[in-house]
Amino acid sequence: MITQQDDHSRQVSGLFRRIAPWYDFLNHLLSLGWDIVWRKQLVRCVRMHRTTRLLDLAAGTLDVSLEVVRQHPCCCVLALDFSLPMLAHGQKKIRATKQASIVPVVADGRALPLPDHCVDCATIAFGIRNILPRHDAYREVLRVLTPGGRFCILEFGAGRRKILRGMYNVYLSRILPWIGRIFSGDPRAYRYLAKTIKAFPDARALSRELLAAGFSRVYSFPLTAGIVQIHVAEKGRIPAQKNSLTPT
Ligand SMILES: C[S@@+](CC[C@H](N)C(=O)[O-])C[C@H]1O[C@@H](n2cnc3c(N)ncnc32)[C@H](O)[C@@H]1O
Repeated sequence: MITQQDDHSRQVSGLFRRIAPWYDFLNHLLSLGWDIVWRKQLVRCVRMHRTTRLLDLAAGTLDVSLEVVRQHPCCCVLALDFSLPMLAHGQKKIRATKQASIVPVVADGRALPLPDHCVDCATIAFGIRNILPRHDAYREVLRVLTPGGRFCILEFGAGRRKILRGMYNVYLSRILPWIGRIFSGDPRAYRYLAKTIKAFPDARALSRELLAAGFSRVYSFPLTAGIVQIHVAEKGRIPAQKNSLTPT
């Protein structure tokens, strides 16, 4: 049986297949280059003293993965996305930088092809908004993270709130789909972007959602007047007491 969520996933993967050739260019244009700064900030939240294996979920054209190995050269990144065209565009950048520590994998973030407790950190930039139900991705990230590991999320702030006296909201609803249509020839894609930004929960609601999913500590902070938010969710450590009681 095809569920509503499967249908949503098919539409999202079709959308990213169509805009993949334009994705990087439009990202930088529509954000006036701020997206580069936002990803750098996201990667600063990766806790480095222990991170050697990182999962970059919904990795797209690999900008976050590349920033991770730039800031943390010892890190091995598993870059996972269900859109092959997006990863293929990213792979050109890997080749150009001769980066061997990024491994692109085509898979669905709601069913990770990974064993339990195998990554020390997970990142997702502008991806969680596209995954339905989000809870499936939270469950999978919690499963593959080692205890104490972090899930670092970069996402747009809720577009329902007036930002920059409403100028940003006008930009989101009117100007962004228009520019997107001119360059990518796909007005639906950029209308979808505006719609999902408006529907996305605010920082408080997202924190509640992550705590309810089983993360033990969550904090968030805004960037660029709240246009985007970074959320950091930590997986609890297995209590020492519980370990000592475990029968051998
Ligand atoms: C807006 S792009 C973000 C790409 C990249 N992280 C960045 O910072 O530019 C969203 C990505 O999420 C991917 N995606 C959406 N739903 C997914 C799912 N269920 N599993 C894996 N990837 C998914 C899409 O294919 C797309 O590449």
